[in-house]
Formats: sequence, structure tokens, C-alpha cells
Amino acid sequence: MQSLRAALAHGPISFERFMEIALYGEGGFFRGDTIRSVSDGDFLTSPEVSSLFGVTLAEFVRQEHRRLGEPFRLVDVGAGSGSLLRSLLAECPVEAWAVEVSPPARDSLTRLLPAGRVVTSLVELPSPLRGVVIANELIDNLPMALAQKNDGEWRERWVGLEGDTFVMVDADPRPEVLDWLNRFAGPVAKGGWVEVQSQAQAWLSELMSRLIEGSVVIVDYGELAENLSHRREAGTLRTYRGHHLGPDPLLEPGTTDITADVNFTALIATSEESGWTTELFRQDDFLRKYGLDERLAELRSREVMAVDAKEKLTLRSERIGGETLLHERGLGDFRVLVIRKGR
Ligand SMILES: C[S@@+](CC[C@H](N)C(=O)[O-])C[C@H]1O[C@@H](n2cnc3c(N)ncnc32)[C@H](O)[C@@H]1O
Repeated sequence: MQSLRAALAHGPISFERFMEIALYGEGGFFRGDTIRSVSDGDFLTSPEVSSLFGVTLAEFVRQEHRRLGEPFRLVDVGAGSGSLLRSLLAECPVEAWAVEVSPPARDSLTRLLPAGRVVTSLVELPSPLRGVVIANELIDNLPMALAQKNDGEWRERWVGLEGDTFVMVDADPRPEVLDWLNRFAGPVAKGGWVEVQSQAQAWLSELMSRLIEGSVVIVDYGELAENLSHRREAGTLRTYRGHHLGPDPLLEPGTTDITADVNFTALIATSEESGWTTELFRQDDFLRKYGLDERLAELRSREVMAVDAKEKLTLRSERIGGETLLHERGLGDFRVLVIRKGR
């Protein structure tokens, strides 16, 4: 990637900066011509797996709308192709906005929402904002720094160039990185790697400062800090491409999705320090709370009753899609953080 080589021309850069350019810079993974989160893309998200994700979230939005009254807006941040908004709005037609940095995803969203309601940053949203903000699989894509615990001491891992090859470079941890690690890394074994997610906290703080009343729903893979370290001692940083795990993040930047498990402890701390209340669910529990089991039971009985073979098949595939959202070790194991402010 030319933009990465240019950034490295004057010496190593933090992994956070590397990830930012690799995903969002010139030639970056989310800057190309294609939408990544679709079936012929690189990974599949819950709203792309089943419209029942949006249909079920619509019940949450409906209840929040009832609680908050008007004015009320729904915002999807990192809205991708618009699949979530499409299925949600069909059930619960409220005023909706999308925030997206990827040009092809924005094109798709402008076909769904009225002119002016697809924006590139939180700053462009109406102010003051009241309502529900959803971010499905956004946080895991926000740039993060990398650190490793060696002999009880934290070291940062930056990225440098050796000839034509990107390599990890040892660096003293920056004070803000050290501060984050001391608060949120959780238990880490000697040699363990941690992704430092302060940009996610900054994003959430910015959002909370704009939302005067309402709720934020963050859905992603990840865990509380104390459980994250047990998942993988080598950290959870990884890449995806073409629906499979991809190569090391340094090998082919621009062609892979760089991601890591979300540290929900850090997000909860940011929310509660600002006086917001938080509830953390597993995705399967959250979707059940808002009626997915009942929707699946209805599909099952319609499937049994259907006489037309094609209709039976359609109902069956809808049901299987919905069940996938609840898979105990798959999408059902994602976390849903609900953050609330106001009445
Ligand atoms: C993994 S995809 C998820 C897309 C969609 N939410 C879904 O569930 O299908 C992450 C999306 O977030 C977008 N994104 C990343 N950082 C963003 C930011 N700071 N603001 C808005 N969108 C962002 C990316 O362009 C990408 O489309």
C-alpha cells in the first residue's frame, strides 16, 4: 500500500496509525469499490445473515421510542450496506440516519434513506440528538494500539519497514497507552498481547456528548477484560478476507479486514464515568428478550402448514437464518451493550 509506505518513510508508526491507514486510508480495505460486509464480500454480519436481526431490534427501538417520545431519531453508525436499517425500518418507521466512512457503503445507504441523512461522521448528525444509536460490528474495526507484557513490563508494538516488508518494532509505551493498559488490560500472562482500544472510548465519549437523551446499542464480538485474556494469550488481533481468517495484519494491508475482540470493560467504564447506565447481554439473550424465539416459533408453524414447496423452503431458510443469530458459540456469543441516559 503506497499510503502506508509514505507514512513509514520517516520511521515506525504506532499500530493504531497502521490500522487506520490500512482500513480507511488511500487504498484501504474499506475505501475500495466493494461493500465488505455482504455475501460476496469478506465477512457476514448479523443483519446480512438474517433480516430477523433488524426485525427484533425494531422492538427495542419501538420501546425506546415509547419511553422517550418525540423528537426521536434512529442512527446506525458504520451502517454498511443498510441491511439492518432496511429490516428495522420496515417494522418501525422512525426518522433514521446513517453514519458511514466507506464510499460504496454510503452509495448503498443513499438508496435507502432520504437525501442528507447519510453522513460521514458524528459531527454531521442533527444536534442535539435524542433517540437510539446502534453500532453493529463497528467498534472491532476502530484503530487500536498493540502492547505486549514482557517480564511484567509493558512494551508497545509499532510498525516499521525492513526493506519492502512491514515488521513489528519494539517501542516504549506511550503514557496514554500505559494508562489504558493499567486500567483495562485485565489479567495478562507473561508474553501476552493486548489490543489497546482507547479510540473506541473516544468514539463513545464523542457520541455521548451529542446524545442528550436516549440509548446506544453496541453489538460486537468481545468480552469483559477479565475474560478476554483467557481467549488467546497471543491477543485477539486477526484479519478476515473472503469469509475466512486472513494472513497476519502486516502481510497484505489494504486487502484484509483487521479486527480484534472488543474490550467491553473499557466501554462500560467510559459510559458509567459519564453517568450513563449500562446493561451487558449475550446476543442470544438480548434477541430472546425482544421476541426472536416467538418470531421463530411463528415461522416454524407457518413452515409446517405451508403446502406450496417453494413457500416451505423460503420459510425454512428464514427460520434457519434467524436461528443462526442465536448460535451459542457463533453470533449468539456476541455481546450487546445497552447504554442509557435520561428518563
Ligand atoms: C464490520 S462493518 C459492519 C457493517 C454493518 N454495521 C453490519 O453490521 O453489516 C463496519 C463498518 O463500519 C464502518 N466504519 C468504520 N469506522 C467508522 C466510523 N468511525 N464511522 C462510521 N463508520 C465507520 C466501515 O466502513 C464498515 O462499513
